Amino acid sequence: MSIESERDLIGLLRIGRIVGLTLQTMLAQVRPGITTAELDAIGAEFLRREGARSAPILTYKFPGATCISLNDEAAHGIPGDRVIAAGDLVNIDVSAELDGYFADTGATLPVPPVTPLKQKLADCARAALDKGLAAAVAGNRIFDIGRAMENEVKRCGFRIIRDLPGHGVGRKLHEPPSVPGFYTKHANQILPEGLVITIEPFVSTRANRIVTASDGWTLKTPDGSPAAQYEHTVVITKGQPLLVTAV
Ligand code: CO
Ligand code: CO
Repeated sequence: MSIESERDLIGLLRIGRIVGLTLQTMLAQVRPGITTAELDAIGAEFLRREGARSAPILTYKFPGATCISLNDEAAHGIPGDRVIAAGDLVNIDVSAELDGYFADTGATLPVPPVTPLKQKLADCARAALDKGLAAAVAGNRIFDIGRAMENEVKRCGFRIIRDLPGHGVGRKLHEPPSVPGFYTKHANQILPEGLVITIEPFVSTRANRIVTASDGWTLKTPDGSPAAQYEHTVVITKGQPLLVTAV
């Protein structure tokens, strides 16, 4: 969506804050011994108390309020009996709707002690997000965001997972335009002021694509290499983007 009124901005900021707080609340509970279903229940309860509805359930009938993806799982991991252990790389992605507005955010948390490689991967995904955000300025093109993120990931010695782009968001969970995590000349749309998109680099140590697991939902690397992602929903402005999901 594009912000067209004060009402749009207030509605988007409200759900952005809720998903941001939900994510932080869940991240604070990540520890060895907790199951991904228990973590999801914490997120589901937070959303419910705020009057928000899980976007994955609403949009895709996803079997969980949030997506929790471990290690070689990049996205759409189903919460369940799996017990989180020291050394895991835990990605939590929260998206939800309130009053017709949607926001989407994610982060990756290493559960100590982790290998230096996994720590570096999570740090790199965070750094790539920051580079992407810095390039998300009105008048730039969508590929400027991907180029900035891809360059950072290359600098780390890692790879962008090419089939998981950012996206428009706001009135639905997934809207046009697609926001690739890498440079492609096709993503040449100029970023207009007020456009609402997600910026979400998916980074892996070796893989540059994903496959769907046998559960039909989980997207994982084909070679078992670990993946990490960070995500914010932003509004494009003439300066630095407005971070809708930062809390
Ligand atoms: Co997301
Ligand atoms: Co997203």
